[in-house]
Amino acid sequence: MTATATRPEDSGRPLVLGVLASGRGSNLQAILDAVEVGRLRARVALVVSDRRGAYALERARRHGVPAVHLSPRDYPDREAWERAVAERLDDHGVELVVLAGFMRLLTPWFVRRYRNRVMNIHPALLPAFPGVDAQRQALEYGVKVSGCTVHFVDEGVDTGPIILQAAVPVAEGDTVETLSARILEREHRLYLEAIQLYALGRLRLEGRRVRILEEET
Ligand code: GRF
Repeated sequence: MTATATRPEDSGRPLVLGVLASGRGSNLQAILDAVEVGRLRARVALVVSDRRGAYALERARRHGVPAVHLSPRDYPDREAWERAVAERLDDHGVELVVLAGFMRLLTPWFVRRYRNRVMNIHPALLPAFPGVDAQRQALEYGVKVSGCTVHFVDEGVDTGPIILQAAVPVAEGDTVETLSARILEREHRLYLEAIQLYALGRLRLEGRRVRILEEET
């Protein structure tokens, strides 16, 4: 099986990120903070939101990062909206697209255009509980352990190659809110780890397995 390098090698240059977000943007905030203190070999070049009021846009601006709202209503279909997004991403030299609470499904056109260059974080241990309300699904199913998953985005809903996962225990008295908060805290660290591995050229794709290369010493 041939291995596909995601980012060929660690050039020493910061990885250029474009973040797509629809809401509060706490994962984006974790990324912005990590960049600022030099914990991530990356920089956020652009944040795009499909929702005007997304707090993620405000967070970006506070860090001096260009933030644009593109309303899907201004485009005839999903692909047309994505083409407008792609144009902005390319203008900013984005290498890796990071979905951070982005609530739209991407079309095959976008997935192909950025094959193995789009990451998502999902608040469950995939392939369990894909789609919306993952924490509620996990609670209602009665699992004792849930967690979060960072994966590359493919044409399906939360079905792409898994990069990293972290387990989070479900407590007796958990509600959707308490479980979500515990998972979210873990998400923030996991996303940084995955982006850093990509930035350092340490991810290899073999079929749908993502191999993590040893750190060079
Ligand atoms: C997170 O739980 C993430 O896993 C899911 O959407 C939520 C986004 O939160 N995809 P935030 O906007 O990053 O705060």
